[in-house]
Amino acid sequence: MWTGLINAYKPYLPVSDTTPIVSLHEGNTPLIPIQNMAAHWGIPAKWYVKFEGLNPTGSFKDRGMCMAVTKAKEAGMTRVICASTGNTSASAAAYAAKAGMGCVVLIPKGKIALGKLSQAMMHGATVIQIDGNFDLALQIVRDIAEKEPIALVNSVNPYRIEGQKTGAFEIIDQLSDAPDYHVMPVGNAGNITAYWKGYTEFYNAGKATKRPKMIGFQAEGAAPIVRGHVIPDPETIATAIRIGNPASWKTAEAARDESGGFIGMVSDATITQFQQQLAQKDGVFCEPACAVAIAGVIEAAKRYTFTKDDTIVSIITGHGLKDPDHAISVSTTPIVVEATYEAVSKAIFSN
Ligand code: F0G
Repeated sequence: MWTGLINAYKPYLPVSDTTPIVSLHEGNTPLIPIQNMAAHWGIPAKWYVKFEGLNPTGSFKDRGMCMAVTKAKEAGMTRVICASTGNTSASAAAYAAKAGMGCVVLIPKGKIALGKLSQAMMHGATVIQIDGNFDLALQIVRDIAEKEPIALVNSVNPYRIEGQKTGAFEIIDQLSDAPDYHVMPVGNAGNITAYWKGYTEFYNAGKATKRPKMIGFQAEGAAPIVRGHVIPDPETIATAIRIGNPASWKTAEAARDESGGFIGMVSDATITQFQQQLAQKDGVFCEPACAVAIAGVIEAAKRYTFTKDDTIVSIITGHGLKDPDHAISVSTTPIVVEATYEAVSKAIFSN
């Protein structure tokens, strides 16, 4: 039985036999081939998505959160705090509940997807909304955690990175080697930092013969790394990555440069287009932020010549159910008919 990523990768994680592991059996997510998208776009490579939306709270954050909450508990803390665009708060709330700890989350008012807000509330976190963006919320919680006995569980907490690096371990285990190209969304830039660390550790341990080119994507209205400066008022429909001043900026650039990859950006219209295509051609429903990891492959094809021997992995960081409002707003309205055989039959066959 799979019992979570801490048990699975213990030798590579900062835990001992006495560490009180807090787990919801996260990790072990599938690597799903998206051959219909590959055929549609003329990508000859083996193209997979790592569906991190299938973690217990529906996003990749569970990988880092199980480690961060485990270590906070080990240190004797009784409460955790985070700033969030939504997924971190959902995950922190769930793991704090499992650990019997309190949880406080700071979120940008009106700018987090409904599913994520409902999770933090259902798990019993203290939810505080601020009239400001994620960057400001993060500054506030960092200041509070420095002065008060409450554990900060944003990705500036190094244990988050330790947990999240296991995504790379799993990909290498699943493919029996590292992929050639790794494509993912970049927001606060903790996850690209974590994946690069994971690929590097398994490469150094002899479990992979290579490391992938790291390709990160941001939304055009929230692309500080691409533009090379802080964005004071980031704006995008992909609220998960609506971030203007990423905390792990430097390590994201290091991952990009050491791997020979790049960080690019796509428009909100492109994000929606690829979110719909992935759902409609390969049956994977992702939240808007992750669609940049699909669109990014088409952008990357302008720089690199993919061959049939190449392997590409796009990280689908969060489940589409997180943001039902966006999904409904960009879809065709359901047909309403009378509750009769004739009316339903007419609606199906007369168009
Ligand atoms: N994808 C999703 C679905 C996210 O929720 C996030 C970040 C990212 C990608 C970007 O990851 O920040 O490590 O570069 N969400 C954070 C949150 C900021 O608060 O849930 P990153």
